[in-house]
Amino acid sequence: MRRVTGKQIVEMNAADFGELLSRHQGVVLDVGTGDGKHAYHVARRRPDDLVIGLDAAKDNLRKIAAKASAKPAKGGQPNLLYVWAGVERLPAELRGVTEIHVLMPWGSLLRGMLGSDLTMLRDLAAICVPDAEFLISLNLHAWRPSVPEVGEHPEPTPESALRDLAPVLAAQGWRLDEAEYLDAEQIDALATSWTRRLNSSRDQLDVLALRGVINATAEPAETGQQPG
Ligand SMILES: C[S@@+](CC[C@H](N)C(=O)[O-])C[C@H]1O[C@@H](n2cnc3c(N)ncnc32)[C@H](O)[C@@H]1O
Repeated sequence: MRRVTGKQIVEMNAADFGELLSRHQGVVLDVGTGDGKHAYHVARRRPDDLVIGLDAAKDNLRKIAAKASAKPAKGGQPNLLYVWAGVERLPAELRGVTEIHVLMPWGSLLRGMLGSDLTMLRDLAAICVPDAEFLISLNLHAWRPSVPEVGEHPEPTPESALRDLAPVLAAQGWRLDEAEYLDAEQIDALATSWTRRLNSSRDQLDVLALRGVINATAEPAETGQQPG
């Protein structure tokens, strides 16, 4: 797979990736990582996990990839990789993913997350371990007015996502458990450039977060009291 380390792009083979995997507990894949800030933030907070920021556009990754590849004293993060790839052609070496984040998707990535590209959901599920978790945050400005990628999908609400999107995702192995609007504080905690830009309009509900489990091995845990 093509690892961006700054100005350079280096090929990482399956053995090198396997070695990295063996040194970490979990693997967080940030799909459509953009300028990579969210991935960097997650890697800093979770040193035991390997974090991979993946994007189809390489140039926005170069600055943060150079920082991540530096010595730890200079902001380097040994548990962080940036990979140049489109989700449509995932690197063959990629596997063992325990958590997928897709923040503020646009373009073909947005189409995929809305269930209009079932192959994309299936291919991502195929590189995940059983019971991997996912977080998708949808920028609702994509519907105000609607960009072409949203197609016939109306602007989702927490209720409509659980009713209409959940069965489409479930058929590809993505079980949607929770859908909620994020407030300004929650948006801020995601630490992405895009979400920070959205924070300017705090009076509006701009972001819908979708959370759930990929390749689930059991039904969701019951909440509340057991009957009897
Ligand atoms: C609006 S930006 C969001 C960036 C970042 N997640 C954030 O929240 O700051 C959407 C990103 O998705 C990437 N993207 C769109 N379609 C993609 C695809 N099919 N495969 C990989 N990346 C894709 C774009 O290159 C862009 O960087």
